[in-house]
Amino acid sequence: MDITATQEWHELEALGEGFDRVQLREMFSGQPGRARAMTSRVGDLIVDWSKHRVNPEIMSRLFDVANAAGLRERIAEMVTGQHINTTEDRPVLHTALRAPEGTVIEVDGRDVVPDVHAVLRRMAAFADRVRDGDWTGQTGRPIHTVVNIGIGGSDLGPVMAYESLAAFHHDRLRCRFVSNVDGSDLVAALGDLDPSTTMFVISSKTFTTLETLANARSARSWIVGHLGEEAVGKHFVAVSTNAEEVAAFGIDTSNMFGFWEWVGGRYSVDSSIGLSLMLAIGPEAFNEFLGGFRTVDEHLVSAPLESNVPVILGLIEVWYRTFCSLPTRAILPYSRYLHRFPAYLQQLDMESNGKQVRRDGTPVDYQTGPIVWGEPGTNGQHSFHQLLHQGTTVVPADFIVFANPDHTDSEFAGVEAHHDLLVANCLAQAESLAFGRSAEEVASVEPNPDLVPHRTFPGNRPSTVIMAPRLTPSVLGQLIALYEHEVLTQGVVWGVNSFDQWGVELGKVLAKAIIPELGSEGGATHGHDESTNALIDRYREMHHRG
Ligand code: F6P
Repeated sequence: MDITATQEWHELEALGEGFDRVQLREMFSGQPGRARAMTSRVGDLIVDWSKHRVNPEIMSRLFDVANAAGLRERIAEMVTGQHINTTEDRPVLHTALRAPEGTVIEVDGRDVVPDVHAVLRRMAAFADRVRDGDWTGQTGRPIHTVVNIGIGGSDLGPVMAYESLAAFHHDRLRCRFVSNVDGSDLVAALGDLDPSTTMFVISSKTFTTLETLANARSARSWIVGHLGEEAVGKHFVAVSTNAEEVAAFGIDTSNMFGFWEWVGGRYSVDSSIGLSLMLAIGPEAFNEFLGGFRTVDEHLVSAPLESNVPVILGLIEVWYRTFCSLPTRAILPYSRYLHRFPAYLQQLDMESNGKQVRRDGTPVDYQTGPIVWGEPGTNGQHSFHQLLHQGTTVVPADFIVFANPDHTDSEFAGVEAHHDLLVANCLAQAESLAFGRSAEEVASVEPNPDLVPHRTFPGNRPSTVIMAPRLTPSVLGQLIALYEHEVLTQGVVWGVNSFDQWGVELGKVLAKAIIPELGSEGGATHGHDESTNALIDRYREMHHRG
């Protein structure tokens, strides 16, 4: 079905043309109770979406389009294990990773929930041993540092969640994360570590990823160099779907924690890819983390579309991206613990919906996935917020804030008062973006008329504010699931396959061709374009081999 040919789509296009006339100031003054009406709750998350440039008519048309696109049906297909990732002929079942025991979810006739819980139990038993100091390294000392080696979803999920839940970390165990094939990443991570107390978790769904295998090989040499070949079994575990490659690498598959091809890399933090997180926060807190996802999953499946929070947020983003031509969205967590959350969402959103063809291969003739970016507040206020407030591009923003901080037991008594400052800044940013300051308002306090235009804030810049009591494992799970389902909603309306990522392939193939050419002797006979060939030659001239 061509969604752009529907009446619902045409109506949204017409409404989009009047986008600039939709003024937040007017909507608030003309609709008392707007904030209450447009604040939703899912689990512990209070989601205020009242500062968006939408009205009941726009929302109603967006729900119509979602219905026309078959959103309800696609959600049902996803959670029941249909092969909705059509280009890879796979189910998309990250929701099964947090399904309670006893639920039945079949993939091609096999109930996968018992498999999920069997892996969770193995992970928990292993995590308990490492955390208790019962699992020791080659010299008999307990593990102090866990180094997760992975990239993309096999890095961003674990590192984001580990950093987010710093308040829940084990006293002795620390995690580090190595992803980039830039050797500096590994050198920086291992530089001050003691091999005898270091454990590596090699995380790769495919176990064929160039960066991860290069880092894993170097880490292996480091351990073998210090502790001997026999130390590998005590210092390396693997997380993967590919037992054959794990064994070929030299990790005993009894030290491997599996998952399944129906878990996409960017949807895998709640699978065994979260092993380093479980080691840091413990099995019980990991279980709470899964429970948080489950709360939002249940809401997705049961709430009507009109009160379904991830659906509402997803449709608002469709409105901005497709019908109002806004190219980007900012993720602004007012929590330093969430400092990797924007990067995590970049992969989740941009690898899912950065697509130019529909599921049937036909090209789209409308804008799809936005550019996602962001930094924690209040730092961003002193750099890029200038553009958010007065730039020529409107950037919808998500503010994420917590009512309680996680440093209350700190020895620095003064930091207690910081939290009000942090939250006040967050709310003030959303308020000033939405309502601005008119020229008349500025003129009433600014004696120099030349400065009035410079000090005027146009306002009418949309944002969501998500507030939760505290950044707990459960709340983090809720937040992630909220965005996962938002991305799903957008992908369904746009008609794209949100679960493949062919766009990363060409670069991998070309890099493989260039690797040997960088090291070869002799003249430039590489088979690339003139520019690439010349750059290869320059590199060979300039690079000093040891
Ligand atoms: O290159 C993209 C990608 O396939 C991501 O989707 C994935 O998260 C990442 O690479 C890592 O893949 P793997 O876990 O198989 O090493």
